[in-house]
Amino acid sequence: MAKHKKLRSEDWFGSDDKMGFVHRSWLKNQGYPDDEFRGKPVIGICNTWSELTPCNGHLREFAEVVKRGVYEAGGFPLEFPVMSLGETIMRPTTMLFRNLASMDTEESIRANPLDGIVLLTGCDKTTPSTVMGACSVDLPTIVVPGGPMLNGKFRGGELGSGSFTWTIKANEKSGAFSSEDFREAEACASRSQGHCNTMGTASTMASMVEALGLTMPGASAIPAVDARKKTMAWLSGRRIVEMVREDLKLSKILTRKAFENAIVVNAAVGGSTNLIVHLLAIAGRIGVELNLDDFDRLGSKVPLLVNLKPSGQYLMEDYYYAGGLPVVIKALGDLLHQECMTVNGHILSENTEKATCYNDRVIMTLTKPLKPEAGIAVLKGNLCANGAVIKPSAASEELMQHRGRAVVFESMEDYHARIDDPDLDIDQNCVIVLKGVGPKGYPGMPEVGNVDLPEKLLLQGVKDMVRISDGRMSGTAAGTVVLHISPESAIGGNLALVQNGDMIELDVEARRLHLDVSEEELAARRKNWIPPAPLAQRGYVRIYLDHVQQSHLGADFDILVGGSGSEVKGDNH
Ligand code: FES
Repeated sequence: MAKHKKLRSEDWFGSDDKMGFVHRSWLKNQGYPDDEFRGKPVIGICNTWSELTPCNGHLREFAEVVKRGVYEAGGFPLEFPVMSLGETIMRPTTMLFRNLASMDTEESIRANPLDGIVLLTGCDKTTPSTVMGACSVDLPTIVVPGGPMLNGKFRGGELGSGSFTWTIKANEKSGAFSSEDFREAEACASRSQGHCNTMGTASTMASMVEALGLTMPGASAIPAVDARKKTMAWLSGRRIVEMVREDLKLSKILTRKAFENAIVVNAAVGGSTNLIVHLLAIAGRIGVELNLDDFDRLGSKVPLLVNLKPSGQYLMEDYYYAGGLPVVIKALGDLLHQECMTVNGHILSENTEKATCYNDRVIMTLTKPLKPEAGIAVLKGNLCANGAVIKPSAASEELMQHRGRAVVFESMEDYHARIDDPDLDIDQNCVIVLKGVGPKGYPGMPEVGNVDLPEKLLLQGVKDMVRISDGRMSGTAAGTVVLHISPESAIGGNLALVQNGDMIELDVEARRLHLDVSEEELAARRKNWIPPAPLAQRGYVRIYLDHVQQSHLGADFDILVGGSGSEVKGDNH
């Protein structure tokens, strides 16, 4: 920091008047000595620990490790909880609450005497929500990603979190597994602390924050239970104190170039489509211009370098042993802005100078990639005026150009009621159309876009079909799935007008998604379209429905875009 730069926390702790007494005295009930309040950077450890968020179950212990580093560097750590979003348990979907958790984070940081922030994150939404909130305050901030679980082990084979889940229905129907088999697999799949061990959304988010420069180098891939994860947490605690002294705020790291890096890295690691809505929302908070087309323009031609499920074969533990993200960043060379600053005070290329690949089956090179093109393709057409997305690396080659008859489901309830009806008029060339799962429609834009295929087709051995919706897809899922259609059906996007039997054309190469119905016919259908009744009249969901934006804008609230900074007027007494 500039030599005499006043710490933000001094506004609370620095005076000898009544308010200084109040701010210090009550905290002293926890045993803090007086010198903790005398000019030390106060570090807020923002913890998303919760027993209801199993992927973050170890973060309580991690907070203590971070504190050691903070104390060691001369800071004063104060841990605080924020809303934690457990992907596998929360209903109807964690995405409904991402913006709420971001508000909690933002206001918890702004309202308190904090100079720097450590975000302890893990499960899918806990990373973007806390980063979004922190961006709206813009203090020096470092992310400690909780890390993936160890590889699942089941009867001599490997089991990836989530990836196995998508085969359950097929295995059940074919009789390949009994219910006892599934019970056994449950424990084998999740045999250690940590988040999903595939390149699902949690690993994608961890990679994203590392690519953005918000973590210590190499932090994202370290398994949760590896001792080196604790070392990383300890070092992060040390480093955040220095960041406060250097005034290295989020806005100095999160430049437009850093966001471009995150898009390229996401393509190279085969990251989740969920990155799109989260990265757009984070960019909006920190004031960087980013749009949906940037993801295609910058990422779609990037080779896939990382051979991890769901796009490839291996799991996060293998990836860490192979060298993790620093190897990928180094391999990407000029495809990245290597001069971008990161939280440790070094630029990207300095951090990865010594990175070495120890397993070229897991991390490949630009000259010998797993697939020549990965990334996300952004589709346009009369079904998605503002765009839709598909992850070609997780899709079937033979369906990338496809024309098929629409089989329409008006909602998830409708889908569940009819998908396995033996009389359902559907074959493998049809296009499954799912409505009502967008940001406002469900509400909360759930991860249902990769709906299971009909039982009768699964039994025939059909493995993939084109599925389109305004929803999202789990980062652990695969298939020829068109997602994030905007505008969504609930607000009258053309998706709302699709009827059974309409022909739909998907052409990924041409970036086109087209409903082969005349403008006149669509106009006639629109006249008869009845908007769905509001899904809530009160509470948070009402606020959500009033303010959530469409997916191509990151599904953030209109009133949350941007930031209010770290200054707070007024006092509490
Ligand atoms: Fe938490 Fe996958 S369920 S990371």
